[in-house]
Amino acid sequence: MDKPVNILGIAGSLRHKSYNRSALRAAKRLAPEDATLDIFELNGIPGFNEDEEKNPPAKVAELKKRIREADAVLIVTPEYNYSIPGVLKNAIDWASRPYGDNAWSGKPVAVMGASIGTIGTARAQYHLRQVFVFLNMHPLNQPEVMIGNAAERFDSDGNLTDENSKELIGRLLKNLVTWARRLQSPEPA
Ligand SMILES: Cc1cc2nc3c(=O)[nH]c(=O)nc-3n(C[C@H](O)[C@H](O)[C@H](O)COP(=O)(O)O)c2cc1C
Repeated sequence: MDKPVNILGIAGSLRHKSYNRSALRAAKRLAPEDATLDIFELNGIPGFNEDEEKNPPAKVAELKKRIREADAVLIVTPEYNYSIPGVLKNAIDWASRPYGDNAWSGKPVAVMGASIGTIGTARAQYHLRQVFVFLNMHPLNQPEVMIGNAAERFDSDGNLTDENSKELIGRLLKNLVTWARRLQSPEPA
């Protein structure tokens, strides 16, 4: 069998009982056999300061290293005011700098998200996909995993209980693995 695809999972919430962090933990359990999913927590990353981008805080250096080591990235985003949370954008910005040292460049990436509203982070996800253009990432298009009415889809311990969401996440990860392998394979002569 091929070497497992190593996925780095990042959730854009710091909240203790975050649905998105819970969904990311569910994704770890739902990853296909030929993949691993490791989680990077965003707590402790200070606000971006361009004066410090050439000598970033240790947590940012660690994030950039983990991105570079990964074969693919999974971002699990909440929706804040119809967009992505500042804490996620801040981490993205740090890891994209300084100019010419963008750790995200060339990475296959999948997106999912959970919100308490009915639309399930659709607006945030499309904003994030716009950011991927300048980061030079390779987003997976489908399936779109938008977990609406999150309060009904997780139990009080943060376990994802909704079977449809689990099926979609499993399919998303399977497609991400195929996508990452396809992008890794050499160009035909
Ligand atoms: C500042 C802020 C803005 C929000 N804006 C939206 C929004 O635009 N759309 C939405 O569906 N939910 C919105 N919500 C509700 C979030 O869906 C809800 O807080 C969710 O639980 C956040 O994700 P988390 O559980 O992973 O922390 C907002 C919440 C906050 C704190």
